[in-house]
Amino acid sequence: MLKILVIHGPNLDLLGQREVTVYGTTTLAEINLTLKKRAQHAGVELEAFQSNHEGEIVDKISQSSGKVQAIIINPAAFTHYSIALRDALAATAVPTIEVHLSNLYAREEFRQESVISPVAVGQITGFGPESYYLALDAALSLVKQEESR
Ligand code: DQA
Repeated sequence: MLKILVIHGPNLDLLGQREVTVYGTTTLAEINLTLKKRAQHAGVELEAFQSNHEGEIVDKISQSSGKVQAIIINPAAFTHYSIALRDALAATAVPTIEVHLSNLYAREEFRQESVISPVAVGQITGFGPESYYLALDAALSLVKQEESR
């Protein structure tokens, strides 16, 4: 069965209570549930993983190599400086879609650089929880394209 891995970076466990004017009131559990339902509907397995720890995310990415067909990642603050995460993604060769709830380019200058984007297939930013659902649609079409090759 095709499998998609969704990775949520630091502080995203606090969604729903964290800076609600920026990130909204939807919780991470609600986002994961919607993602799982939609993936199931498409006949694809989906695993969601959240960690506040860079090394744990690096481990998760390298362990998923060859086991998942696409990764959706919101690297959160790591977006802007984690070369370790970028290198882990580059090493897996699993197609990766980068997601952000807020529009990075409408925010502080330090958020306008992503060290992850150059190793991602693309980036979806600014649509709130919908960013994840758009990313799932993109991931589904990527994995289905791969499958039919
Ligand atoms: C974020 C944007 C990052 O700059 C920030 O550090 C986050 C969340 C987003 O989803 O909008 O934690 O990735």
